[in-house]
Amino acid sequence: MDLYHLQVLRGLDPGRRVSGWELSRKLGLPASAVSKSIGWLRTRNYQIGGGSAGGYLLGERSSSLYPWEVSAGLNTSGFGKKIHFFSELDSTNSLAFELALAGASEGEAVVAETQNRGRGRLDRVWISPPGVNIYASLILRPRVAMEQVAQISLLAALALARSCSRLWPVSPGLKWPNDVFLGDKKVAGILSEARTEGGEVRFVVSGIGINVNLDPGDLPGEVRARATSVAEFLGYPVSRLRLWRAFLEDFEEVYHDFLRRGLSPFLEEWDRRSILKGRRVKVSGGQEWEGDVTGLDPSGALRLNDREGKPRVVLAGDIKVTM
Ligand code: BTN
Repeated sequence: MDLYHLQVLRGLDPGRRVSGWELSRKLGLPASAVSKSIGWLRTRNYQIGGGSAGGYLLGERSSSLYPWEVSAGLNTSGFGKKIHFFSELDSTNSLAFELALAGASEGEAVVAETQNRGRGRLDRVWISPPGVNIYASLILRPRVAMEQVAQISLLAALALARSCSRLWPVSPGLKWPNDVFLGDKKVAGILSEARTEGGEVRFVVSGIGINVNLDPGDLPGEVRARATSVAEFLGYPVSRLRLWRAFLEDFEEVYHDFLRRGLSPFLEEWDRRSILKGRRVKVSGGQEWEGDVTGLDPSGALRLNDREGKPRVVLAGDIKVTM
């Protein structure tokens, strides 16, 4: 994006008419550049009324996740400082992986308004309708062992739970390993993918899909019954921008703390937010067990007592609550 488009956007005053002449003088830009920028902004859904003679009036700001909107008021040191934004992509995780292979730095993010091949865990499809949700992937370069990569997903889920409860009167639950719930329905999921070389982690891509203003009625039947969105849960639409910024801030804080001190400082909160603790579950996809969840072990694996009361540790798998 040309920088002067952003200057013009900043020069517009919500609720007050500003003439083309005033903008051009204030910004030191030729009048033709101002009117070109106004056109550019209008094609990006900024509601700008009027014309140069009567003055331009900025109405609703765009509700898109444009990088320049995200960066206004973003309080991070690295996460989301560089955002690769697309109106449509196959999968933000796939592109982030390629960018990371090509040398992209820690904290760079890929965001799309819609994905046509959004991927979930266990080879599932992540349904990604345009304009209502958040589909984003962050590139991380942690110096951790391969076994710790799964811990990063646990922390991304925890960070999102914190973000939601900081913004709205909600107390999200966590379903091991990395689903975020509002009430008894899933509102977000995380897919982390790592590149290793010689047994060492070269980078991790942590992708997050959050149902923000989605109407779950638009989802296919079998998913609809298990999914919700922030807006559905609260009963009113919310700002995707605020949530995305809050998540970048919370995830960065949690991640840096994790690099210094490991997972242990987060286990108590994870357990407290867990919707599985004390529940009877069935584990599939790898280890096949049924039992009562007792919590997380220090590595972030799920602990349960099987039907004979024998303690088991689940490292990976799909969990269904049976009772
Ligand atoms: C899950 O719960 O199964 C994980 C869902 C992860 C979806 C996100 S959307 C952004 C990123 N790109 C993808 O293709 N998947 C993740």
